[in-house]
Amino acid sequence: MNFEKNILCIGAGYVGGPTMAMIAWKCPSYKVTIVDINPSKIVQWNSDNIPIYEPGLYEIVKATRGKNLFFSTDIDKGIRESEIIFVSVNTPTKTFGAGAGMAADLQYWEKTARQIKNSAESPKIIVEKSTLPVRTALAMERILASPDSGIAFDILSNPEFLAEGSAVNDLQNPDRVLIGSRETPGGLKAREALVEIYTHWVPKEKIITSDIWSTELSKLVANAFLAQRISSINSISVLCEKTEANISEVARAVGADSRLGSRFLNASVGFGGSCFKKDILNLVYLCRYYGLDVVADYWEGVVRINEYQKERFVLNMLSTMFNTLAGKKICLFGFAFKANTGDTRESPAIYVARRLVEERAELVITDPRALANAETDLSDIKDRISFIEDPYRAAAGCDAIAVMTEWDLFSGLDFERIYTQMSKPCFIFDGRNILDHERLFEIGFNVFPLGKSALKHF
Ligand code: UDX
Ligand code: UDX
Repeated sequence: MNFEKNILCIGAGYVGGPTMAMIAWKCPSYKVTIVDINPSKIVQWNSDNIPIYEPGLYEIVKATRGKNLFFSTDIDKGIRESEIIFVSVNTPTKTFGAGAGMAADLQYWEKTARQIKNSAESPKIIVEKSTLPVRTALAMERILASPDSGIAFDILSNPEFLAEGSAVNDLQNPDRVLIGSRETPGGLKAREALVEIYTHWVPKEKIITSDIWSTELSKLVANAFLAQRISSINSISVLCEKTEANISEVARAVGADSRLGSRFLNASVGFGGSCFKKDILNLVYLCRYYGLDVVADYWEGVVRINEYQKERFVLNMLSTMFNTLAGKKICLFGFAFKANTGDTRESPAIYVARRLVEERAELVITDPRALANAETDLSDIKDRISFIEDPYRAAAGCDAIAVMTEWDLFSGLDFERIYTQMSKPCFIFDGRNILDHERLFEIGFNVFPLGKSALKHF
């Protein structure tokens, strides 16, 4: 079959996979190929057991795979055969050298740019999907435009705003699609080519076009603002605990102001996920690089509050349970960084689990989707941990439950049954405020919500 356009995506991860599946589904006349250096990932994408859990995604992959959506390891062939190349390889925080722990590690990016240059035989539009420091496009341009190349490349920035767990809906009904380009004739033409893809399903007024540097920066800023909101509400949660105010009531009152809005005001044990911390640190690094220390300190505070929230959660467990956790059995309800995903990257549960083991507690972890990742994340301390999918079996014999992830499943459990099988006195620390605290207290639990008065029997 002859396709109207050939689109390639390099990087078959959480961003590349769902985004390309949506394009293939909405644009049946385009051929969409996703390539990855990791062959086992490609095998999984080609199987019934795709590598990421995302509601609704498998159905879309199944409907398009083999028709106009293809998964492959042949990166060079993919580059040669496509006109538009999305790049969504990972850009983790650097772990070595200058900027370690702060700056983005761009080695995969640069390697990918060089591979595109070496394999390309015709002009290409390159689309940055990965989140990158501002002005990365310039580096990309310089690598691709070196004199021996002779081929025209136009670089666009098209950051992804999907959130895990709701990726399919976010892609299908985005608040906006952002496309940045150079304001040259070539750049503007490339921008139009990308706009055309999205107009297959996104209303034109939701497609924002802009210059490339503002676009790159907007992605970092959007994530920084979202994370800032969570740190803001979390910073108030501790004040509520001291003053007998209730964080849910405060969030309701504050969120009713239409200038502020009600979303993203759920106090929690801390935000996780592959993006928030990484992107804020990236912003902080950028500010320091330009000598803007006051601005850098301001944004670094968002991450500091998040670390504080996780640590104070553990310290609260410790002081409540008579200042010793040694030998006690604690069940973590949830390990994913949020509900509806198996992803555990930067999950607050990792920090809490490690700290509890440091206090010599024994852990049981239950999660409907994330146990395999949990085992990998904690492989060095797994002799102190059991991984049990059934929450009733997991909680049996434990002294305390700590809710780490807001899975619906947990609020629907029979807590009377759970209570009878636990050691007494029983404690529940609700790191997501999803349970019915009054009811748990009536059953006999000592209940410690976030940002609300504790309900204790002693
Ligand atoms: C994405 C974005 O790309 C990142 O910048 C953003 O900030 C977080 O989300 P994500 O899709 O979540 O990353 O990463 P991951 O699931 O790790 O997928 C990246 C994929 O790229 C992996 O499958 C990896 O094997 C592949 N890869 C990496 C390549 O194909 N080539 C490389 O050189 C490096
Ligand atoms: C985020 C951005 O939302 C998305 O636009 C961007 O493309 C990638 O980063 P994601 O990390 O997948 O998406 O999930 P998100 O829903 O933003 O949640 C991030 C973390 O914040 C989770 O740990 C979540 O539990 C936590 N959170 C969220 C809260 O603690 N309280 C809230 O009110 C909302």
